[in-house]
Amino acid sequence: MTEGAARVVGDRADSDALLSVRVPGDKSLTHRALLCAVLADGTSRLRGLLSAADPRATAAALRALAADLPRIPPDGGEVVVRGVGLRGLRGDAGLIDCGNSGTSARLLAGVLAASPARGTLDGDASLRSRPMDRVVEPLRAMGALIRADGEGTRLPLRVEGAPLRELSYASPVASAQVKSALLFAGLIAGVRVAVGEPGLSRDHTERLLRAQGARIHVERSGAAVEVELTPVERLDPLDFRVPGDPSSAACLAAFVALAGGAVRLCDVALNPTRAGFFDALRAMGAAVHIGAGSAEGEGGPEPRGDVVVRSTGLRGVTVGAEDVPTMIDELPLLAVVGSRADGETTIRGAAELRVKESDRIAATVEGLRAVGVDAEALPDGMAVRGGHHPLSGRVRVHGDHRMAMAFGVLGALPGNSIEVDDPAAVAVSYPEFWDDLRRVAAESGRA
Ligand code: S3P
Repeated sequence: MTEGAARVVGDRADSDALLSVRVPGDKSLTHRALLCAVLADGTSRLRGLLSAADPRATAAALRALAADLPRIPPDGGEVVVRGVGLRGLRGDAGLIDCGNSGTSARLLAGVLAASPARGTLDGDASLRSRPMDRVVEPLRAMGALIRADGEGTRLPLRVEGAPLRELSYASPVASAQVKSALLFAGLIAGVRVAVGEPGLSRDHTERLLRAQGARIHVERSGAAVEVELTPVERLDPLDFRVPGDPSSAACLAAFVALAGGAVRLCDVALNPTRAGFFDALRAMGAAVHIGAGSAEGEGGPEPRGDVVVRSTGLRGVTVGAEDVPTMIDELPLLAVVGSRADGETTIRGAAELRVKESDRIAATVEGLRAVGVDAEALPDGMAVRGGHHPLSGRVRVHGDHRMAMAFGVLGALPGNSIEVDDPAAVAVSYPEFWDDLRRVAAESGRA
């Protein structure tokens, strides 16, 4: 196996004979590593990149803007990127198809607005229905030229690069996509940008850019955060291996916690702004050991390490607004885990779930009810009453990868018989999900 290869499944060579699984690279970090490498002066070396539809959309857009970006190999092997520099993305990219990827659309809006470039950002039906005003308004306040041809401020959006001015912006939502779009815009335009958030969203952009020499200052006051970028002339290249995606790892952790046995999830991104699901699983009673035997060790811009999960009986948990940003993408999965725990699981302060790839509050509750779970939608979350009777039925996942994976986990539990209507939806973030789940189901119980 080559250094940086993303896949080890079914490796039982550990001294403690645990099943070891290495999930594919983190999606959020893959988008950002590509952008940061392309904007650098010099040659970056990236390993462990996620080869899936969402990051491929970002890569294709960057190529259309004259970046020299090789294809992302499916085995996590090295990609060498010759950066074009902060103001090196150029030309008319024409139609930029972001597919299902909100991160591509929102981050590229910031990049395009500040570059000597133009393009029309578009996406699939799900992405066209998602709010873009959260990036368009602050970018326009910087002087960005953005024309919305669709309904309201939605895709498709025509973005023409223009000189931008500095910005101080208080974002009403804790969104890493908004924050990152504005940081990239300020960085490329060479102007100061300060973004306030009601809670800390994932901070991958700040960490990678800092590792490249950018000047970013973070001020916390209670839950609120302000991130301030001071312009720099150039970015250093990156030498970075993307750790495994904690959102993907969470699915296998959830399965093992419910089904029995144990698993070691190797070299997972353990950034505190992302790791909340593992804490919630522990609060439900699962044995979750974090940080054991990291393949990468300390250092590097992103914390990473192994996560070992052993099953125990689980009880319900309550998640509130302060916990939500650290597990936003895992909340449907948490509700699914709650459906097999003792007592009630309640999620509040998560209205953002309604504007993800699907309305994840409605879709989760609809799916749980379809298979026989007592679940209720709340305006900003959901309540699920756990039980242990066999579940069966067909679940509509609304084309949403995270819904397909959450209900895939539920369906793979012994005794359940659940069909998801669109298993191929996993292709946007975890193309190998069904294979990995099958192998974990076959092997984790033998530890
Ligand atoms: C992401 C940020 C989150 C998350 C999404 C990926 C990112 O969205 O839900 O899956 O890579 O920046 P918001 O920024 O809208 O919270």
